[in-house]
Amino acid sequence: MAKKHVLGIDIGGSGIKGAPVDLDEGEFATDRKRIDTPKESTPEAVAEIVAQIVDDFSKDIDKSSPVGITVPAVVHHGTVRSAANIDKSWIGSDAESMFSAAIGRPVIVVNDADAAGAAEMHYGAGRGNEGTVLVATLGTGIGTAMFLGGELLPNTELGHLHLDGNDDIETWAANSVREKEDLSWEEWAERLQRYFGHIEDLLWPDLIVIGGGVSKKSDKYVPYLHLRAPIVPAQLRNDAGIIGAAWLASHHRS
Ligand code: BGC
Repeated sequence: MAKKHVLGIDIGGSGIKGAPVDLDEGEFATDRKRIDTPKESTPEAVAEIVAQIVDDFSKDIDKSSPVGITVPAVVHHGTVRSAANIDKSWIGSDAESMFSAAIGRPVIVVNDADAAGAAEMHYGAGRGNEGTVLVATLGTGIGTAMFLGGELLPNTELGHLHLDGNDDIETWAANSVREKEDLSWEEWAERLQRYFGHIEDLLWPDLIVIGGGVSKKSDKYVPYLHLRAPIVPAQLRNDAGIIGAAWLASHHRS
């Protein structure tokens, strides 16, 4: 019998992407599927798309494992508690029960940065590091995931720190702000220096991993950063959310 895999689904602002994941290798077992995120991205509209993706892969996935799904928000025991860059109707929604009812299978819902971080810790840039690791995804917002001894401390939300009179630091330092304000790499790096320098003063990570699409251009801004901890780009790039969602689903402890 062909090996079955765990399905990971990553819900983002522009696309909903899913793939069966080979957890021995930390990679997709088949090509991923991507469907545009609906304009009105309410939980119900997104659940319909999630159901299509699950249907497409139903023969490839292990029915004994929950499906892992990410959302770009705080997820506290299956319920979404924030909505910085998603439709506000997500707040208070019991996403785990809702997705599970929509697809007829158990589901684990996790924060997108926590998923990307888990993938980097197990298969990528953080692999084997038993110390304090910060994974920060720089995109529309800033997502963060913290690990100690490889264990995730969920929902750290360090993208919303108050700093220098700015009451939501992702609106000053995210990659979307670099694009919107047309900052040079050096100008953006100055903001990252202030941001990561402050986090270092509070949490003293042993390693900082930069994720998100802009991680592939790290040679443009990382050389300007002077931090105590080594700062390295993520290795799994855009696949990290899906792979980490599948990993967290299969290692879930209730
Ligand atoms: C959200 C986080 C999310 C991050 C990246 C932030 O605005 O509050 O939950 O991980 O964006 O999507």
